[in-house]
Amino acid sequence: MNKKTIKDIDVKGKKVLVRCDFNVPLLENGNIRDARRIVAAIPTIEYLINNGAKVILCSHLGRPKGEVKPEFSLKPVAKKLSELLKKNVKMAEDVVGESAKKLTSDMNDGDVVLLENVRFEKGEEKNDEELSKKLASLADIFVNDAFGTAHRAHSSTEGVAHFLPAVSGFLIEKEITFMGDTLENPKRPFIAILGGAKVSDKIGVIENLLDKVDTIIIGGGMAYTFLKAQGHKIGKSICENDKLDLANELLEKAKQKGVKIVLPTDSHISKEFANDAENMIVKSREIPDDFEGLDIGPETIKSFEKELEGAKTVIWNGPLGVCEFDNYCTGTEEIAKAIAKTGAISIVGGGDSAAAIEKLGLADKFSHISTGGGASLEFLEGKKLPGIECLQDK
Ligand code: 3PG
Repeated sequence: MNKKTIKDIDVKGKKVLVRCDFNVPLLENGNIRDARRIVAAIPTIEYLINNGAKVILCSHLGRPKGEVKPEFSLKPVAKKLSELLKKNVKMAEDVVGESAKKLTSDMNDGDVVLLENVRFEKGEEKNDEELSKKLASLADIFVNDAFGTAHRAHSSTEGVAHFLPAVSGFLIEKEITFMGDTLENPKRPFIAILGGAKVSDKIGVIENLLDKVDTIIIGGGMAYTFLKAQGHKIGKSICENDKLDLANELLEKAKQKGVKIVLPTDSHISKEFANDAENMIVKSREIPDDFEGLDIGPETIKSFEKELEGAKTVIWNGPLGVCEFDNYCTGTEEIAKAIAKTGAISIVGGGDSAAAIEKLGLADKFSHISTGGGASLEFLEGKKLPGIECLQDK
């Protein structure tokens, strides 16, 4: 990575504003359901504490759209951070108001303060210059470590970097280095597995990967647009009818470039979009009109496993079935196991695939589980991420 990191600057005694991605899923009781993004931010925060910085953390949580909404407060995150860091993390009542100013002006070296949800401020998502300046006025240095939000040009991810020396934290460095090196210099065979509901979300990724990979395995809801484009009967499975021509174009491009595309051959279908409705396994090209495909079937799992045998690099983004329903997460879980077995360099992005890996206890069998959903997709598309572009070059 050609961007400066916190190791390239002197942080001792300095106030360092660190943008993290603490956008974690919460349970109804307000507890954190999955703290992986908080855990991933700890190395940067600990480095800053140990090197005598005054650490001011900020993040968004959810999409409160410029309103102060208590259910989107970062208070549960402050509690979790205090546990993980084994030190008291003080929580400001606001983002750049009196509470934030007071707490951040009263810090000793090694102290940690967390600001309230930056999206409580109307200017955040507009990348408002006034808000960026106010954030900058709290600190001497800006560190972006929010890989998951690096594709957003907001005040706390991009705007503030225009008003302070701005460098990267260790998480962004790790994500970019790992994914960048793998894409540039993959060990072959290099296989991409793409899932998720929509082709439209993955067009750019498919186009970019066609120049890099040997095989693309397509599962999840998006497979049905491809199957219908090939003239198959997909029942009431999710389908983007305005993307049928595009799906055929992508299949044609793949052929020209010598990239193998593997689609499901059987599906676990259901009469309703529900976990427990009438269901069966059928050929993916013959789905009855009143059924929809919610997962790949056993034959497809076998064929995907076969493709994965001998793979040296695997990139996986998006679930292969509807994982919020336990009965339709089998494909995703079996493919997670199959990737783990290959021993290939493996990179995973997106919450559902990562959650399946965690649930199966396979996390240590994967080389890199990205903390980014949308951000990792944009990176795989070959796009520049504004939250990283704005940082100082080495
Ligand atoms: C994510 O969860 O992908 C990031 O935190 C970005 O959130 P956003 O899509 O609401 O900007």
